[in-house]
Amino acid sequence: MSAAVMDDIELRVATAEDSKRMMEFLHEHYYQEEPLTIGCEPKQPDAADESFLLSNIPHGTCLLALQGDRIMGAVVAGPKDKEEAQLLDEEAAQHAGTKWGRIVGFLALVEREANVFERYGVDKAVHAHALGVDTTMRGRALGARLITALAARGKELGYPLLTLDCTSVYSSRLSRRLGCDLINSKLYSDYKDVSGVQLICPPAPHDRVETYALLL
Ligand code: ACO
Repeated sequence: MSAAVMDDIELRVATAEDSKRMMEFLHEHYYQEEPLTIGCEPKQPDAADESFLLSNIPHGTCLLALQGDRIMGAVVAGPKDKEEAQLLDEEAAQHAGTKWGRIVGFLALVEREANVFERYGVDKAVHAHALGVDTTMRGRALGARLITALAARGKELGYPLLTLDCTSVYSSRLSRRLGCDLINSKLYSDYKDVSGVQLICPPAPHDRVETYALLL
């Protein structure tokens, strides 16, 4: 892909009017490969997962990468504060026995271990929940560009910190390359039910969630 073609891509904040097609994009280019989603049955996301992602749009922290009218990438992000781990626990309890409940239960553990608010002495952060790039555009730094733009947007809105739970080795790579701090690493094999059965089993090479943070 030449720089000229990449130059055709413009980033902007997603609005409520974008909800339907942003979700269509995420179904095609995010959920089909995102390790938490494909790491437990059924492979498709729960409706609660989709609703949660869409609930972030009003915060003005979801960005689209557009080539003309076509969505080529998206990052879904929203605010969090010190109550986040507790809220995730409550969401997991509310959805107990479902795929979304299992995923959120894991994210609650990750949130506690990362402990970003004490670690950085901040009281809020903008958190990237989902990052997806069109399969035809992978490996050309569009994902990195979306995270860089999210950092700028977060700063503009007054957030002191950007955080990401990178469930994929590829999002981890781009976060490292952007100079984000790696603050926690949690293996999928460490998340088990009371009988010792692993609850989320993504395919190789994805074996852990790495949490990254960037002071804004
Ligand atoms: N095989 C090997 N390396 C790859 C591949 C691949 N299939 N895809 C990307 N990479 C590498 C890139 O070369 C780059 O590494 P480098 O910095 O060492 O060169 C890195 O992984 C990705 O960097 P970008 O090019 O900036 O990212 P890209 O535009 O390819 O988007 C993304 C990365 C968003 C993770 C994309 O692979 C994707 O949409 N995956 C499916 C959904 C997903 O798993 N999203 C991340 C979940 S975590 C989260 O959402 C916060």
